[in-house]
Amino acid sequence: QSDDRLVGKKILVTAGGTQEDIDPVRFIGNHSSGKMGIAIANAAAQAGASVTLIAGQVKNLATLDSRILVTRVTSTNDMAQAVKHDFTDVDALVMAAAVADFQPITRADQKIKKNPDSDELTLRLRKTPDILKQVGQIKRHQFVVGFAAETQNLLQNANKKLIQKNADIIVANNVSNPGVGFGSDDNQVTILTRNHEPEKWPKMSKQLVAKKIIDLISDQIL
Ligand code: PMT
Repeated sequence: QSDDRLVGKKILVTAGGTQEDIDPVRFIGNHSSGKMGIAIANAAAQAGASVTLIAGQVKNLATLDSRILVTRVTSTNDMAQAVKHDFTDVDALVMAAAVADFQPITRADQKIKKNPDSDELTLRLRKTPDILKQVGQIKRHQFVVGFAAETQNLLQNANKKLIQKNADIIVANNVSNPGVGFGSDDNQVTILTRNHEPEKWPKMSKQLVAKKIIDLISDQIL
């Protein structure tokens, strides 16, 4: 079902996982399928917005509304560059992507060989750029929605992200609960904002979560 509430508004969405190369054949990744971010991009397009999706590793791009512009990225650095390139011009950003927190300090030029004298290999990692935090520092009119993927202390950790990343909303999900979070068709989220008590939504399809997030954004940017 389409409407035209967001006609003339620009919404930027990220989806999927980023990958950090270890060598030419190996990477560090995560289990994100991109379903949550794609559902948000589709809900925004169905409300009439001009939508750009910055997609990392995603499984079902075929379900994307044909009106959505897609930028494909691999690493967190690529995603950071793409988000910052588009951010100035948008009314809202939703960071649903599962962004790597660490990347190898060096990418080996050749495939790393097994050392016959050792059963161990040590990888040295450094922090990736925190995209949400960086845009939180430069945002002006833009309404910024982040996610928090937690396995413990959901509200406490998500609230820290709301403040430290200067987001307007954090959508918190406990990704250790079965049937929700990474890869599944459903999600169960709690909405954190600066001025209201956290709002726990029941388990529902990612499409419905997405539609309700777009309703929240519409209330703020219209
Ligand atoms: O893709 P699906 O299979 O549908 O799964 C959906 C999901 C579980 C991936 C999604 O609902 C979700 O929780 N996305 C955020 C995952 C994540 O990276 O969470 P985080 O708590 O590590 O990060 C907090 C926020 O900061 C997120 O908005 C993230 O996009 C952002 N971030 C994180 C690290 C980083 N270096 N830069 C960032 O911008």
